[in-house]
Amino acid sequence: MENHKNVVVTGASSGIGKSIMEELLAQNRDCRVLAACRRAEMIADYGERVIPFSCDLSTKEGVDALFAKAEEVFDGHIDLFFCNAGAPYYERFDYEDWDRISHIFDLNTVGHIYTYSKYLHHLDGREGRLVYTISAMGEMALPGYALYAATKFAMKGFQQAIRDETPKNLQISCIYPVSTKTNFFNVGGGGRKMEPPFPVQAPEAVGKAVVKGVEKLKKHIYPCPVYLPSKLLMSAVPPVKKLYVMAQQGKLRRFVKRIEEEKRGVVENIKLEHEIRK
Ligand SMILES: NC(=O)c1ccc[n+]([C@@H]2O[C@H](COP(=O)([O-])OP(=O)(O)OC[C@H]3O[C@@H](n4cnc5c(N)ncnc54)[C@H](OP(=O)(O)O)[C@@H]3O)[C@@H](O)[C@H]2O)c1
Repeated sequence: MENHKNVVVTGASSGIGKSIMEELLAQNRDCRVLAACRRAEMIADYGERVIPFSCDLSTKEGVDALFAKAEEVFDGHIDLFFCNAGAPYYERFDYEDWDRISHIFDLNTVGHIYTYSKYLHHLDGREGRLVYTISAMGEMALPGYALYAATKFAMKGFQQAIRDETPKNLQISCIYPVSTKTNFFNVGGGGRKMEPPFPVQAPEAVGKAVVKGVEKLKKHIYPCPVYLPSKLLMSAVPPVKKLYVMAQQGKLRRFVKRIEEEKRGVVENIKLEHEIRK
């Protein structure tokens, strides 16, 4: 980490991004972090080494503003860029809604790909490393996460092709966390209780594994030690994967049932109010 003085972390206000930032600050006394998210007030208390910056990274304007800010505050170039901001939807995908579909791609995919182009031009031949938070769901999609997994599979494809095009000065690392105890499981279900896929990790463990992996210049970082052996087991013994997927189908069924019960409850309350008024 010694060489990384100027670092950008997106999605730094909570969860994995926050843990990565805290681990970086602990490991490298020389680094300064430009910490981006919408709620920059959540990262106001880290002192001079953290520069909070508020922007919406699902828009071109937001990403452009972040690069403009980095050029303003860093004396030199961005050594390390963690492209981590992202969000899920957890749902049964059975609707027509162009804007909702676009929104998740704008944040998780378009913004991340556009960041690559911006960073490449910003470096202008100087050395840099771009770290993408992909997901285990970018390798194995699960029921309830159709759109989310699609955004992450897209990133898996993008990094694969671009590595063979990219000039040597820009290195790429990708991280593939499993379920991590963050706001992810509040945001995904719109505040409703979600049952995360097994196994579940703490964000601090992910932050540590990511910083260690980046330090070792790893191209692919798997923070959960049981992930790769489980993946191997599932491809060697397909019934294991079938059972795992069935468990996720059960979780989605329960989630959808809770929403339907909620809706029925609201309708019944409205009917009751009407009758009372009569
Ligand atoms: N948790 C998991 O199970 C898991 C597993 C695999 C991969 N991941 C990936 O890890 C990354 C971080 O997620 P997390 O689990 O740490 O969730 P989180 O706690 O909800 O953090 C998401 C971060 O992204 C920021 N963000 C969201 N929308 C944004 C926008 N439009 N513009 C700018 N910043 C935005 C949020 O800040 P503001 O709300 O302040 O904007 C927050 O700092 C995501 O890419 C996610 O897909 C998560």
